[in-house]
Amino acid sequence: MNAIEVQGLKRVYRAKIGVFRRRVKEVLAVDGIDFSVAQGELFGLLGPNGAGKTTTVKMLTTLLTPTAGEARVLGYDLVQEAGQIRPRIGFVFGGERGLYWRLSGYDNLVYFANLYHVPPDVQKRRIPYLLELVGLGGRGDEKIQGYSRGMKQRLHVARALLHDPEVLFLDEPTMGLDPVGARELRQTIRDLQSEQKTILLTTHYMFEADALCQRIAVIDQGKIVALDTPAGLKHHVQDLSVVEVEVFGIPPEAVERVRALDGVDTVSVENRDQKQALLVQSANGAAAVAPVVNTLQGLGLRVGNVAVREPTLEDAYVRLVGGEA
Ligand SMILES: Nc1ncnc2c1ncn2[C@@H]1O[C@H](COP(=O)(O)OP(=O)(O)OP(=O)(O)O)[C@@H](O)[C@H]1O
Ligand SMILES: [Mg+2]
Repeated sequence: MNAIEVQGLKRVYRAKIGVFRRRVKEVLAVDGIDFSVAQGELFGLLGPNGAGKTTTVKMLTTLLTPTAGEARVLGYDLVQEAGQIRPRIGFVFGGERGLYWRLSGYDNLVYFANLYHVPPDVQKRRIPYLLELVGLGGRGDEKIQGYSRGMKQRLHVARALLHDPEVLFLDEPTMGLDPVGARELRQTIRDLQSEQKTILLTTHYMFEADALCQRIAVIDQGKIVALDTPAGLKHHVQDLSVVEVEVFGIPPEAVERVRALDGVDTVSVENRDQKQALLVQSANGAAAVAPVVNTLQGLGLRVGNVAVREPTLEDAYVRLVGGEA
């Protein structure tokens, strides 16, 4: 049995707009998605802002009712058997508040354990174990007002695990963390996997999904546009090479001109310190360099370093969700 089964899942929000004349606008946030997650799998839901990741997680954690479609978590129907699902899952939403900063990390966990009806004798074993698991061993007796953001986020993960759920949902767990904090949390997530937990993780970052997940669903505008292993996703761009051109200020017009060139597949812009890099995916590799550079110089732009390289997973992602990403 799969831990998570999703079929044709859909969610429409009805947002009120207008101040004087009230109107209702429908937003199709999740547009009929299908996927399944095996028991013990670490599965990534990857997509740009507004793709529908949080909405999907909220539905799967029974916090939001689907508009259409079906889903099962641990075999239980999302709508009909929500009461069976809730005690068996844990979730962490990125940037979430809700810890008691005057209490120690340990006492925060005791507070939530009582809320989840975890028996006191189980708490005595489980809380120190979880603090250790999330890398807060030895810091549990400190008030969390002195915790760094990364430590608080890891305490949130420990909180989500108090009732020993089988499935864990992590919505952008590394959001707002510095690179060191994010790396530590990624290590914690890897450690959880060795606990046989099924984990569904959302992220904006291709490299993060690549580093952690066995399979990745790329979601864009409510639809799954690709679902594969990291290696499989990379396969999508194997036939392409990437020309990187440093430019000092790129007007949208220049991007459009390059996009229109023969053999050019996808064009995106990356900001780097004072300059920008134009990333051009094309089928003809080095042959694309001259037309691209000529086009930019023809528009009077100052061009810096130029390089041709193999595509990365990030490029696969850019290709899947379009150059705007
Ligand atoms: N409560 C709401 N009312 C109306 N529209 C909403 C609501 N919540 C989300 N949306 C819309 O639904 C779409 C999907 O949003 P969602 O939060 O699921 O995306 P996301 O992939 O989690 O994005 P992000 O990466 O920014 O967190 C967006 O267009 C968003 O504006
Ligand atoms: Mg979100």
